[in-house]
Amino acid sequence: MRDNFKDRLNTAFRSIPLEKYKVPSIGIILGSGLGNYVSSIEGPILPFSEIEGFPRTTVEGHRGEYKFGKEILIQAGRFHFYEGYSLDDVVMPVFLLWKLGIKTLIITNASGGINKSYSAGEFVLIKDHINFIGSNPLIGSNNNEYGPRFPDMTEAYSADLRQLAQEAVGSTLKEGVYAALTGPSYETPAEIRMLRTIGADMVGMSTVPEVIAANYLGIKVMGISCVTNMAAGILNTPLSHEEVIETTKRVEKEFSALVEKIILKLVSEY
Ligand code: HPA
Repeated sequence: MRDNFKDRLNTAFRSIPLEKYKVPSIGIILGSGLGNYVSSIEGPILPFSEIEGFPRTTVEGHRGEYKFGKEILIQAGRFHFYEGYSLDDVVMPVFLLWKLGIKTLIITNASGGINKSYSAGEFVLIKDHINFIGSNPLIGSNNNEYGPRFPDMTEAYSADLRQLAQEAVGSTLKEGVYAALTGPSYETPAEIRMLRTIGADMVGMSTVPEVIAANYLGIKVMGISCVTNMAAGILNTPLSHEEVIETTKRVEKEFSALVEKIILKLVSEY
């Protein structure tokens, strides 16, 4: 992180009129196309644009707001490295959630399926990741108030939370390894073969910086990926963002039901 990160974060935090919001201890970051879940939850909204020093959203399909539900704080919209944001910008929301008191974070995303047993529209629990972004959001001088210089990543996606998710849905979820590349171009078939060889089941362009930040800050993470398409070269069709959005639309209701079941169990057990 850059040296001005702490000031930016404190400015952002102080600009939130906290008397207006009651903050739950569970947060969720909604990925590409999955943002509609926000409309199923009641609560006051805080647009990113009202947070001082916060990055500004660019991509369509990403709302850019927090919604303070009774049980869960929803972050609809995120900042991607491929949009040109710095990794400081990408992880700033996770630090803000931490400052707000979030202890458990569900991170969702859209991904391409590398594992041939997956199919488009399927939800997979992320059990581990491979950082292929070529950088790390924690590079820079360390602030011990946030976390250790060398954070442990052996259980980046909490085993307890994975078990809880499985119990919530009757053990129906597959679990896989998510590899993050910068994008915005999709991968080549050769890259997908390489990723499969090194143990990746899914590929995407987000999540990993946020999960590194959350682990650093001591937040427990659950990762849920919506496989929106089979990765490049697996099927005989070109990849498109339209396909990604189409799939997330198709499984929107299923996604909400899945998240609801998980939150219900989280609230009763945490
Ligand atoms: N590759 C990278 N990111 C993605 C994909 C993909 O195939 N699908 C959705 N996000």
